[in-house]
Amino acid sequence: MSTTGSHPAHHPGDALDRLRAMQAADLPVHGGRTLAYVYDSGLADVDRIGREAVAAYAGSNGLDPTAFPSLLQMENDLVGFAADLLDGPATVVGTVTSGGTESCLLAVQGARDSRPDVDRPRMVVPSTVHAAFLKAAHYFGVEAVVVPVGADYRADPAAMLAAVDADPERTVLVVVSAPSYAHGVVDPVREIAPAAAARGIRCHVDACIGGWVLPYAARLGRDVPPWTFAVEGVTSISADLHKYGYAPKGTSLLLHRTPEHRRPQYFAYADWPGYTMLNSTLQSTKSGGPLAGAWAVVRSLGDTGYELLSREVFEAVDAIVAGATDIAGLSVLTPPDSTLVALVTDGSCDPFTVCDEMGARGWYVQPQLSYAGQPATIHLSVSAATLAGVDDLLTALSDSVAAAVAAGPVTVDPEVAAFIGVLDPNTLTDADFDGLLAAAGLAGGGDLALPERMAEVNAMLDLASPRMREALLVAFLDRLQRPSRG
Ligand SMILES: Cc1ncc(COP(=O)(O)O)c(C=O)c1O
Repeated sequence: MSTTGSHPAHHPGDALDRLRAMQAADLPVHGGRTLAYVYDSGLADVDRIGREAVAAYAGSNGLDPTAFPSLLQMENDLVGFAADLLDGPATVVGTVTSGGTESCLLAVQGARDSRPDVDRPRMVVPSTVHAAFLKAAHYFGVEAVVVPVGADYRADPAAMLAAVDADPERTVLVVVSAPSYAHGVVDPVREIAPAAAARGIRCHVDACIGGWVLPYAARLGRDVPPWTFAVEGVTSISADLHKYGYAPKGTSLLLHRTPEHRRPQYFAYADWPGYTMLNSTLQSTKSGGPLAGAWAVVRSLGDTGYELLSREVFEAVDAIVAGATDIAGLSVLTPPDSTLVALVTDGSCDPFTVCDEMGARGWYVQPQLSYAGQPATIHLSVSAATLAGVDDLLTALSDSVAAAVAAGPVTVDPEVAAFIGVLDPNTLTDADFDGLLAAAGLAGGGDLALPERMAEVNAMLDLASPRMREALLVAFLDRLQRPSRG
């Protein structure tokens, strides 16, 4: 056996070169210019420590914490840190999950399984709740009762409680956000959680975004409405490490007020001839890498580091809110409570064109389609690293708005508009979808690729109903995800 590394199946340099070349086409994860998907501390040393920890633990298996006790230690350390941060009483327990969606899924699954007496469980959520909860409803057979938010984009306590009281026996969960992704505002947890508790119903606060910044915002003297375990009736909280914990991707926390609240989350199975399966998350075998990466980042930054990064991110948010307000044609949809900013354009320019123009200037901002009478918006997830370039960001925004005004409105082919306006996505054929994808510039001529400018595509999707948007995008992804062979 060769020990020289010259085995014919061993071409490490080649594989890594190829990876680097492919990655060059992706959005940058550092530099603070990607304002969705990634969260950048701007601290190269912290990133390096996180990466090295991921690599060191890439092969460890979180399936059995007795076999890899260091993973259990890291998990307990992270839960302890977060319990302090989120005003947890001494009874708080938690689990590290693979991400926000898994934390949200488990919150719903746990609530459902805490009530085996309920035949057709339901949960009450505001219309701004993250789509992960609708996914949970779909996966776990829980009816989601979606309640419109108020004019301030926050959950409407009276409407939420009326929805609960329409069928309290079947209601196993109420969900609120701190903050919501689309608008960056915190729901009135104090008006909802105690009322849920009075009815014996669990209340989950989705702080996937806010978990690692809002507590520091409060410490910095910012006006943050109460939402943590300090609020009576909050039974669980999701808080993502891979967002404002500035950890490598692949970790979130789900905290429960008591061990009893967490109990239904466990899955044990001994009635087969293999090892007794014992899981606290949806995954079974799971890499220790993300957990180690998160632990190393949290240990490096500590409370002081997070407070400093929060100071920076809010300085950037304040500058963006003030600067965007000064740009004619642009405004802030609603003052953000946290680190996410939603911008709207007036009639003078198209928001999707602004997103494209930002892209051309090296900034990624995320288009959000119009919904239920609310306008399309431009989403910015602001990171600590954004602060260093905030003046450039505002210049790029101002120039992008000017370019979008000059470009004029985006038009959708009237035939396509008519087509998507009236058709039922459930009855469309594959050929119809192909026609629509081609008309949208998403497919055609055999090659399937996103056009460089997305404004026309987004304008078309914006006309479509939510179901039609889903159907079109699923058809698109289905065609993208085809094996490269030969
Ligand atoms: C409020 C909120 N909840 C849940 C999620 C889902 O998190 P993930 O994408 O990590 O699965 C997100 C993602 O942005 C979010 O903003």
